[in-house]
Amino acid sequence: MLKPEIEDGQASLADPAFRADVLRGFEIRPRAIPARWFYDRRGSELFEAITDLPEYYPTRAETAILRRIAPEVAKLAGPGRAVVEFGSGSSMKTPLVLAAVAPAAYVPIDISGDFLRESSAALASAFPGLAVLPVEGDFMKPIALPNEIADAPKLGFFPGSTIGNMVPHSSVDLLRAMKASLGEGAMLLIGMDRIKDASILTAAYDDAAGVTAAFNLNLLERINRELGGTIPLDRFRHVARWNDDRARIEMHLEAQSDVDFTIEGHAFSMATGDTVHTENSHKYGLRDARILLRSGGWTPIADWTDEDEQFAVILAEAQPSRLAP
Ligand code: TRP
Repeated sequence: MLKPEIEDGQASLADPAFRADVLRGFEIRPRAIPARWFYDRRGSELFEAITDLPEYYPTRAETAILRRIAPEVAKLAGPGRAVVEFGSGSSMKTPLVLAAVAPAAYVPIDISGDFLRESSAALASAFPGLAVLPVEGDFMKPIALPNEIADAPKLGFFPGSTIGNMVPHSSVDLLRAMKASLGEGAMLLIGMDRIKDASILTAAYDDAAGVTAAFNLNLLERINRELGGTIPLDRFRHVARWNDDRARIEMHLEAQSDVDFTIEGHAFSMATGDTVHTENSHKYGLRDARILLRSGGWTPIADWTDEDEQFAVILAEAQPSRLAP
């Protein structure tokens, strides 16, 4: 049996990839840590709480759209597809789609294993007879889909404007990877948040109750807990800014005074006002969204928005590989 590493009397259970990303993230300029590390158990729960906030309009807007368009999506996609959800989280919007499209199976993919198992079990009991085949993993990496669905045509489901959390070149990589893993004849139902008034956007990412702040700060807590960090949490504050040039909300953790700390024995310093960049949320206009999808190998066939045009849901089909002018 492998013995856990002992450090200061504590077993080190740290994920080596987390360790590497954090140490590098504090080394590089501007400082930045990949957003995937937000989603430990507590991070996933805080994120669910964000989706209920009065300021956080995307979940309500997207849910309303999905409720309205599900029958139309079903008609366009046809029955018997395996629905593959990327970053399923609590799978709150999934029942709207599953109830409409007569799926062959449901494959939720998520990085938070506990969370995935719980929400899969809940979904399986809500849809008796439906094959629910969860896959734990990072959907940014190539993922092998379960053998059971090898022959079924796929409907990818990528809600929540999660695509916006990647920089455009990474979203194109992901769209292409999705096309490759979902295979010939696949379709994709994807949610993208729209560009709108900056005050509405910043409020959505810096709520009055401080839940988004807690979500962002939880990353530092996780570093302290899992990597034996000594980051003084009370010296950091959550900042959400609209970057108009790049059409994105940025989340940062900003040092409120000069701070020194160590992470696994490595020393770091930050001056007052220095930040660690922790998240991006890109926003897309109607045609921006269509170009992004085409760049990633998907042809948009229908798009819908809510009454206030805050959010968009797009159905696309995998571009067959052929020459075109
Ligand atoms: N993709 C969603 C968005 O950008 C959800 C999300 C990801 C989010 N990270 C976040 C929401 C951080 C709030 C804070 O809106």
